[in-house]
Amino acid sequence: MPDMKQLLSLLMLPPSPPGTPREYFLRMPQVETPRLLLRRMTMRDARDIYAYSQDEEVARHVLWTAHRSIWETKAYIRWVIQQYRCGEPSSWCIVEKASGRVIGTIGFMSYQGDNATVELGYSLARSHWNQGLMTEALSAVLAECFQVLKLHRVEAQHFSANPASGRVMAKCGMTHEGSLRRRICNKGVFMDVEMWAILRTDWERSRSAR
Ligand SMILES: CC(C)(COP(=O)(O)OP(=O)(O)OC[C@H]1O[C@@H](n2cnc3c(N)ncnc32)[C@H](O)[C@@H]1OP(=O)(O)O)[C@@H](O)C(=O)NCCC(=O)NCCS
Repeated sequence: MPDMKQLLSLLMLPPSPPGTPREYFLRMPQVETPRLLLRRMTMRDARDIYAYSQDEEVARHVLWTAHRSIWETKAYIRWVIQQYRCGEPSSWCIVEKASGRVIGTIGFMSYQGDNATVELGYSLARSHWNQGLMTEALSAVLAECFQVLKLHRVEAQHFSANPASGRVMAKCGMTHEGSLRRRICNKGVFMDVEMWAILRTDWERSRSAR
């Protein structure tokens, strides 16, 4: 007959080894750039996130629809917090250091362990577009992917109708790998998609060239 301690250890999932993506997704450590702080989301961020997530222009080229009330934002944050708890891929919120406000999100859309590959995604408040901020955030996340998570490949995709996002990927050293016709149904319309990726070897080469 196992004692209580043995029973508990049988019921509990084994802890994720340190340094693995699963363990990283549990912690989602803070990442700092010159103008931004990427940190775990909390319910206290709901007001800031709702402020830009209700903007139809921000939601136009992403899979989520503009939030119609702060309750939708809270439900989203609750889901993200659940992902942290389970060690599943999720997002950071992007804090503008100067104001202390949350102005966007960036994070992991998916993780393929066998292929050491993640897909990234992001969005930013319209008031902050075209100031190089997402390029700054994505560069920092790519560094995390290769230096800390030791990944092999990082992917990102955007709708062909959203070239600004492709420009961010290009500025961060990603390679355009192709166009996928009518691949994703976004808000009832099948959209063309552009696929981008960066390999560890690309990233290391670009760093040593600097
Ligand atoms: C796409 C998005 C993340 C870009 O963030 P950002 O902080 O404005 O990006 P940056 O300022 O780092 O770079 C934007 C680049 O796109 C360029 N750009 C802007 N609008 C453009 C357009 N219509 N066509 C082509 N390039 C465009 C800018 O000139 C800039 O390039 P440059 O530095 O060479 O001049 C932001 O617009 C956003 O959040 N949009 C809504 C959500 C979204 O689309 N998310 C991505 C889903 S894949």
